[in-house]
Amino acid sequence: MATRKILVTSALPYANGSIHLGHLVEYIQTDIWVRFQKMQGNECHYVCADDTHGTPIMLRAEKEGITPEQLIAKVWEEHTRDFAAFHVEFDHYGSTNSDETRELAERIYLKLRDEAKLIEKRSIEQFYDPVKQMFLPDRFIKGECPKCGAKDQYGDNCEACGAAYAPTELKNPYSAVSGAKPELRDSEHHFFRLSADTCQQFLRKWTRSGALQPEAANKMQEWLGTEGENKLSDWDISRDAPYFGFKIPGTEDKYFYVWLDAPVGYMGSFKQLCEKKGLNFDDYWKQSSNAELYHFIGKDILYFHALFWPAMLQHAGFRTPTKLFAHGFLTVNGEKMSKSRGTFITAKSYTDHIKNTEYLRYYYAAKLNGTMEDIDLNLEDFVAKVNSDLIGKYINIASRAAPFLTKLGGGCISENELDRYHQKDFGVDSSIDVFMSRLDDWREMRHILEGAYENRNYSGAIRGIMEVADSINVFFNNTQPWKLAKDGSPAGQDKARWACSIVMEGFRLLTIYLKPILPGVAKQAELFLNVPEQQWEDAASFLPEGHHINEYQHLATRLDPKLIEAMVAANQESLKPMPESHSPTRHAEHQQHAIAPVAETISIDDFSKVDLRVAKIVNAEHVEGAEKLLKLTLDIGEAQPRTVFAGIKSAYDPEKLKGRLTVMVANLAPRKMKFGMSEGMVLAASGDAPGLFILGPDDGAQPGMRIK
Ligand code: 2FM
Ligand code: ZN
Repeated sequence: MATRKILVTSALPYANGSIHLGHLVEYIQTDIWVRFQKMQGNECHYVCADDTHGTPIMLRAEKEGITPEQLIAKVWEEHTRDFAAFHVEFDHYGSTNSDETRELAERIYLKLRDEAKLIEKRSIEQFYDPVKQMFLPDRFIKGECPKCGAKDQYGDNCEACGAAYAPTELKNPYSAVSGAKPELRDSEHHFFRLSADTCQQFLRKWTRSGALQPEAANKMQEWLGTEGENKLSDWDISRDAPYFGFKIPGTEDKYFYVWLDAPVGYMGSFKQLCEKKGLNFDDYWKQSSNAELYHFIGKDILYFHALFWPAMLQHAGFRTPTKLFAHGFLTVNGEKMSKSRGTFITAKSYTDHIKNTEYLRYYYAAKLNGTMEDIDLNLEDFVAKVNSDLIGKYINIASRAAPFLTKLGGGCISENELDRYHQKDFGVDSSIDVFMSRLDDWREMRHILEGAYENRNYSGAIRGIMEVADSINVFFNNTQPWKLAKDGSPAGQDKARWACSIVMEGFRLLTIYLKPILPGVAKQAELFLNVPEQQWEDAASFLPEGHHINEYQHLATRLDPKLIEAMVAANQESLKPMPESHSPTRHAEHQQHAIAPVAETISIDDFSKVDLRVAKIVNAEHVEGAEKLLKLTLDIGEAQPRTVFAGIKSAYDPEKLKGRLTVMVANLAPRKMKFGMSEGMVLAASGDAPGLFILGPDDGAQPGMRIK
């Protein structure tokens, strides 16, 4: 079969947040697919990049006192570290903030503007923050819901009643950036004319081309409406300065909206790979390309990938995707990931606690079936599956059979030799022919697995692989090599070698079958089996004559449920601020925490009356009879520590506060409280979710320092 040329992408994660278990569904799903293609000998390239532009990234950098470039460089390091830990192996991991992406975005824009005539400029009215001097994205405007009156709702929909609306409909709107009352202002925007006939016609055809999963094609029908209906609106692709992104050619203060250049980042990252490896970019992107192009995405961003992206590519003279592979969201224990339940778990937190990332790869694989259904990470089931299947059925085959072979000199018998056992009586409860046909079955399974992997039906693949594992275990138990070896006779040893050789051969097949999912374990297993890097086709052949295996080294241990408990507890109790999950996979421009309106202005003199000090919490304890109070003993460098009663709403474990720093108002008049005298007040940040944020111990602050 001729090798296929395949380019694969996963969605580009935003450069303003950490990779979490929700993200990993997609990267693991993609990585498994890519590894399978490579094992089959196809020319497959897997690229991704950080999605670096937009308002949230600009504001976060500002808040951290660094440039956006510094912020995205820092996050890039974090993201690549996390992906590597989970064996997600990109051929290239770039950044949308690259020359390649800029050039391609400009090229596409100019083609759309000058040749396809699909760019139109129009003035629109939008909320403007007069204090921050910037136009506000919907998510940065808050106010009262026009339907139910709930306070502090975002500019696009109400979390209390679910209503969707325009930001201009909010009552008493305020800027979530500065708290100021926003003003409506006009500004000229650039639109991609998705409503044009040519786009509609093309998208209808594309929907029928088989590029979409059935559920996605149905969604598209809904968006497109029936023939003759014009349901698509033009797409606003520009944003006004200040904005962190690429300037639109021919303008001074307009930038491409982050979602315009994000998918172009797929091309930009691949371009960098081409430069690195000497590949031909056009082979993959020209309109007549015969290479295959696949985008793995979450169902939440189907709209961008199924409408805007193919329409842009088509009208700018590039090829369109062969297929979009959309997956569902991740739930943990049947619910949205949640910080308060401790199930909002970052990649880093997982590796800190569990270390073995292939457990998660295995579990996700066992759940993924190639549809857009959500998948659930049930933590109890996770432990059970890893221990009973992965360890109990697969790893144990090697750990049980290898020592016998080693004792017998480590040599396996060859395929040719197998035949001579037909003549012998093994005194076991099945005939040799049955065993031999089992070996054939194990080998034949590869054809079923090929289909399952190709269709991203990994749960089906795992079922097939576990069937083989079960059969190998039955074979091992029935042939009882431990008894054969014990009888000491040459015939017994011969039989034991025969049985263990077949078991080892079975283990090698399982290793090949699982290799896309468990690349790390497979590598270790190859070393122990003393075989070269196994490819898919190696499942069709047999270990060579007289092959010697190495001594067994343990490949993986059981997953201790205590590690999971500790991980969940750590995420529940963590004092670190972490974004609450809105969408379990990614959130769009949602991540910035909105702030309440800022209080009345005071003079510098008013402020300087307040003596703010860094205080060390030397002791913290519950107050008998008080539900919300903690008694804190604070060191601000004075001879005697101070006692302060703090009303900390979220019942914090006082143990966690000991040794930490906070800020205290040192010159607040002492107040007599029911439980004693309070000699000041501590300052801490808190939001709606449980959690109290104070200074960490390593910020360089020392007890007693004045905050000015
Ligand atoms: O939803 C998200 O996280 C986006 N950063 C995905 C971008 S995918 C692609 F278009 F770049
Ligand atoms: Zn509402």
